[in-house]
Amino acid sequence: MFACGRVVFLVVVTFLRTVQASTDAVPCVAMETCLLPCRFSPGGDLVVHWIQEKTKHNVHSFYHDRNQLGAQDPSFRGRTALFQDQIAGGNASLRLTGVTIQDQGLYKCYTGTNERTMEVFIHLQVNAPVRRVDIQQAEDSITCSSEGIYPQPGLTWSTRPPSNRSLWSPTVQQTAQQLFSISSSVPNPAADLDYICTVSGGGTKRTATWARPTSINGSESGTTIPCASLPAPHTSLTWRFNHSHTILKQNGSSYKVSDGWTQHVEISTESTDLTLKDLSSAQEGIYTCELSNSEETYVANTFLRVQTSPGSGSNAAGSIAVAAVILSLVVLVVVFIFIRNKKKKKEKEKEQEQETTGSPEEKESMNREKEDNPPETQQDGEDEGTPEANEGTSVSTEA
Ligand SMILES: *[C@@H]1O[C@H](CO)[C@@H](O)[C@H](O)[C@H]1NC(C)=O
Ligand SMILES: *[C@@H]1O[C@H](CO)[C@@H](O)[C@H](O)[C@H]1NC(C)=O
Ligand SMILES: *[C@@H]1O[C@H](CO)[C@@H](O)[C@H](O)[C@H]1NC(C)=O
Ligand SMILES: *[C@@H]1O[C@H](CO)[C@@H](O)[C@H](O)[C@H]1NC(C)=O
Ligand SMILES: *[C@@H]1O[C@H](CO)[C@@H](O)[C@H](O)[C@H]1NC(C)=O
Repeated sequence: MFACGRVVFLVVVTFLRTVQASTDAVPCVAMETCLLPCRFSPGGDLVVHWIQEKTKHNVHSFYHDRNQLGAQDPSFRGRTALFQDQIAGGNASLRLTGVTIQDQGLYKCYTGTNERTMEVFIHLQVNAPVRRVDIQQAEDSITCSSEGIYPQPGLTWSTRPPSNRSLWSPTVQQTAQQLFSISSSVPNPAADLDYICTVSGGGTKRTATWARPTSINGSESGTTIPCASLPAPHTSLTWRFNHSHTILKQNGSSYKVSDGWTQHVEISTESTDLTLKDLSSAQEGIYTCELSNSEETYVANTFLRVQTSPGSGSNAAGSIAVAAVILSLVVLVVVFIFIRNKKKKKEKEKEQEQETTGSPEEKESMNREKEDNPPETQQDGEDEGTPEANEGTSVSTEA
């Protein structure tokens, strides 16, 4: 009779003292650190137990004023912590690092003091966002892929300009860590379309664009291959040659031109375009620009044809220039001699005329005629020197 009453009393007391808070959902990002909140009314003889409900595993315990990890499940080893300086004030929140998909689910925070016990339930939700989308060409198809996503992602294609050839279904795979990979291929892509792939999952979305290939003709002295401009500032830029050699990589503030390309690349950290110089047929091939910002990736391929001048090599171009200069000098000299002879002849004629008539009007007209001579010998203003002196000045300025 007495024993029975005591049991009833204990059950009633326990029931009265235990408070169950409503369940809160806490979103967390895979691989990152997550905070599971838990508050209680402070009191003496504190006991804290964090329990994973689906397995009933011990996550973290605290009593006798210190952490007690003897019963901790190995899957949580080294990943948990309480805020020691906050506990006495009623904060038993748990810090969980390196969150995995397996951590997802319901957790119980049990707190007991010599006054009351409390249970708080927290639902941990894990998302693995789409961090990057790769788009590349293989043989006769374009493949778009992304990995490490949770929950299950989706993938859609579109084209620019819009077309009705945009329904290629994706393949989805799941790793042992429960993360999803997704990929899809466009067989025989049309040469006049840009292909845009969008992957969404884990509360995020990213697109990757494959721009239709183009080609440009460059001269040996240099050329600029355009990339693109994205609506938001880019976070990384990579230029590749013939799909394999990296030409330059820009990521945040770091900017690196690969060995072997330094003599061909004009450094420009402002532009995403690639400016090349000192080209030969060895630099002929496919240039790929890959540009990313926080939402999208853009990939463009340009075929560069280097137009070599006949005779080939920069020496040939040099000698052509020298020959042109020499030729123009020769022409100049011939013209001068011709003009000089003509003028001398004219002057002689005038002198002869003057000797016969000698009138001042005729002298004046002779001077005017001198001023009307071709520009090579014409000097304006006070410099009324002899024709010989004028020619001397002109030649020295031209040379
Ligand atoms: C507990 O303390 C930590 C560290 O100061 C703080 O970030 C957290 O918000 C607190 N949690 C609650 C439920 O008060
Ligand atoms: C796609 O559109 C073209 C015209 O733009 C039409 O001729 C063709 O039948 C369409 N194909 C499909 C599969 O709907
Ligand atoms: C480049 O040059 C080739 C001939 O050498 C010509 O057929 C082609 O149209 C040119 N392309 C461009 C974009 O100028
Ligand atoms: C750029 O740098 C960040 C860290 O600085 C790194 O996480 C990221 O993978 C880099 N991206 C590329 C494309 O190299
Ligand atoms: C690059 O690719 C082009 C065309 O695919 C090829 O003609 C050229 O030989 C390649 N150049 C090098 C250096 O591999």
